This record gives sequence, structure tokens and C-alpha cells, in this order.
Amino acid sequence: MLKLALLLCFIYFNGIAQGGNFNVMENGAKADGKTDDAKAFEATWKAACESSGPATILIPKGTYLLGAVKFHGPCKAVPRITIKMDGYLKADTNLNKFPSGDWVTFAWTNGLTVSGTGTFDGQGAAIWHLNDCQQNEKCKLLPVNLKFVSANNTVVNGITSLNSKNFHFGVVESHKFRVTNLKIVAPGDSPNTDGMHVERCSDVTIQNVQIATGDDCISLGQGLSNVLISSITCGPGHGISIGSLGKYPGEKDVTGLIIRDSTITGTMNGVRIKSWANSPSPSAVSNVTFENIVLKEVSNPIIIDQLYCPSGRCANQVPSLVKISDVSFKNIRGTYLSDVAVTLHCSLGFPCQGLKFQDINLQYRGGRAAAASSCMNVKAVYSGTQVPGPCVA
Ligand SMILES: *[C@@H]1O[C@H](CO)[C@@H](O)[C@H](O)[C@H]1NC(C)=O
Ligand SMILES: *[C@@H]1O[C@H](CO)[C@@H](O)[C@H](O)[C@H]1NC(C)=O
Repeated sequence: MLKLALLLCFIYFNGIAQGGNFNVMENGAKADGKTDDAKAFEATWKAACESSGPATILIPKGTYLLGAVKFHGPCKAVPRITIKMDGYLKADTNLNKFPSGDWVTFAWTNGLTVSGTGTFDGQGAAIWHLNDCQQNEKCKLLPVNLKFVSANNTVVNGITSLNSKNFHFGVVESHKFRVTNLKIVAPGDSPNTDGMHVERCSDVTIQNVQIATGDDCISLGQGLSNVLISSITCGPGHGISIGSLGKYPGEKDVTGLIIRDSTITGTMNGVRIKSWANSPSPSAVSNVTFENIVLKEVSNPIIIDQLYCPSGRCANQVPSLVKISDVSFKNIRGTYLSDVAVTLHCSLGFPCQGLKFQDINLQYRGGRAAAASSCMNVKAVYSGTQVPGPCVA
């Protein structure tokens, strides 16, 4: 008898210790679309996080209403956690349910995979009218759909992010971060619904992502190194942007970025680097390549803007302290709608160095011939096709 009990005990504890499957439905989730299932999700995460073998969290098909959900480590013994996400997750529209200002957060993890056919629906349409960030610089930020903080060795694959209240994805302080096969969707006129914002990260790949939003499809912030972005379709939205940089003291450099093989359609901007005019401390952007990008009916296809000041209220403009060098634009082609296809407004204090333009073919699509390029403080070399022609400095 004692032996049997010990054996059962052994199997039981060993079972837990070995990880295995952890299903939200077995931890109290209702999946009725009405009951807040956040506690059940967090209980499932806790069990997986405390196990010591590879763990899989199952979120089966079904509609789950959720306030804020924290998937936070550190998970000391578990070598990796896979979240198999096939559910339809609906964010609550009551903002009191998001005390820390976030919806689903993943933090302090190592070896996390979030994969499946599921959807994170931020239900932003009910909330967007509360966004007053255009008028109010100190506006309260609305919840991001998915936030990753110090999530190293992460894979995000297959899922959809829909109608976020604010940005769809925020990824910070995460190293070895891989994103593939996502859909990110919000209306073109929804406020600040950026597709993906990444900063203070290294070794990031973002591939095969369809993004249609009301703001930047992808924005790349300070402190980035070794980032590959490819096979993106972007539009509507504001394009793919590095920056804005140089807003806060102590920002880190951005280096080693490749953005290639992508199509940007009907957006305000195509590919852009922007830094604030009044940067409080110096930083640098270097070794950036934009390659093989098709732009269709984009207002401003190529822009470097070092006088960035969206409110128009930046007193005593001093030249940006963000140094831009070694940026290549290769095989960028398509059509544009504004007066200017290529805008290069670099800092008077630190002119852009080592800009390379190779095979640029941007055709004006509109009523009248337009001024094609506008440049300030730029050192650039040109090769291959150049339509429009290079700036005359
Ligand atoms: C993630 O990697 C960074 C850089 O190596 C490290 O400082 C940080 O502690 C790691 N975080 C986790 C949760 O492992
Ligand atoms: C530029 O960045 C790419 C991509 O991260 C990297 O492979 C390459 O070594 C870098 N080149 C230099 C000169 O640093």
C-alpha cells in the first residue's frame, strides 16, 4: 500500500515537474465571451511557469473576454513555454480593467513561443474617441494589445492582432526575438494603432507580416542592433519608420538594420528616419539598408526628417544631435502622390554621411509635375537609375 502511494505520489509530482500541457479550460476559463477569463489564464501560466520540463499552454478555439493578463516570469526551471493560441481573445472595453495600462503582457521570459491561429481583438473602436494625444502631449496612453518586456529567445507566429486600443505590439529589451506570419489589422483612420514598435532590442527578425493600421506599420526606436525586416505588406498606415529618435536623454544608438522585400501601399510615408529637432543628448543611426521595396501611391516615399516636430510647437529649434550615417536605399520603386518623392532634411549640426541611392524609380502619379527631391545637409552618392534625379546640393 505504502509503496503504491509513494509510486502515485512520484508519478504525480514527476508529472508536474516534467511540464506537459496546461489548458486554460482546465484552469477555470469559461470561454463564453462574457466572463473575464484573465484569472484563469494567469493561473494556467503560473502552473506552466513553475513546472520544470517544456510546457505547452493550450488556448483552444472559443471566445474569451479578458481584462489585463500578465504572463510574467522569471520561470526558473522550465526550459521553454509554448502558448498554443487558437482562441479569439476580446479585450474588455472598460478601461478600469487595465490598471497598469496594458492588455496582454509577456515579461522576463526566456524561450517563449506564442503560436497559433488565434486573434487578439483589442476592441479599440469603442475607445479610440478617448485618444486625445494629438491635442494633449501628456495624454494617458491607452492599452497596447501585446507587450513583450525582456522576453529573450521568443517566437511569435501565426496569430492576428485586431483593432488595438493603442499600438498593436510593443517589444522592448528583448533579445533574439522572431516574428513570422502575423496579421495586424485596424482601420486607416484609427489613432496611434501602430503595428509594431520595437526598441532596446537585438537580434530581431520580423518576416511575413501583413499590416494595415492607422499609424506606422513598423516603428523602430532607440537602442536597436541587428534587425531584419522582410516580406512585409504595409498599408493603409504611415509606412515603416526608424524613430522618432532623440526625444529623451540617454537614448542608445541604432545600428545594423535591414528592411527589404516589402510592399507599401496607400500610406502617408514609405520608408522614413525621423529625429526630434531638440534632442537632449547625442546618439547615432548607422548601417541601415532599405532594399527591394515597392511603394504604391504613397504620399512621401523616402524621408529623412531631422526637424521632427509633429505639434509644430518646438521652440528654439536646435539641430538634432542624432548622427545619421551609412544608410542605403537600393531598388526602391513605385508611385507617389505628393510634391516631393525624396526628402532628406538632415541635421545642420551633424549632416547625414554616407547615404547611398542605387536604382530608385519613383513615378509621380497625379495631376501636375512635381518638385522631386528636397535636401538639406546631406552627403550622398548615387548609382544606377535615379528617378527623380538626385538633389543638387
Ligand atoms: C535577456 O537578455 C539580456 C541581455 O543578454 C539580459 O540582460 C536579460 O537579463 C535577459 N532577460 C531574461 C529574462 O532572461
Ligand atoms: C551592418 O548590419 C548588418 C545587419 O545587421 C550586419 O550583418 C553587417 O555586418 C553590418 N555591417 C557593418 C559594417 O557593421
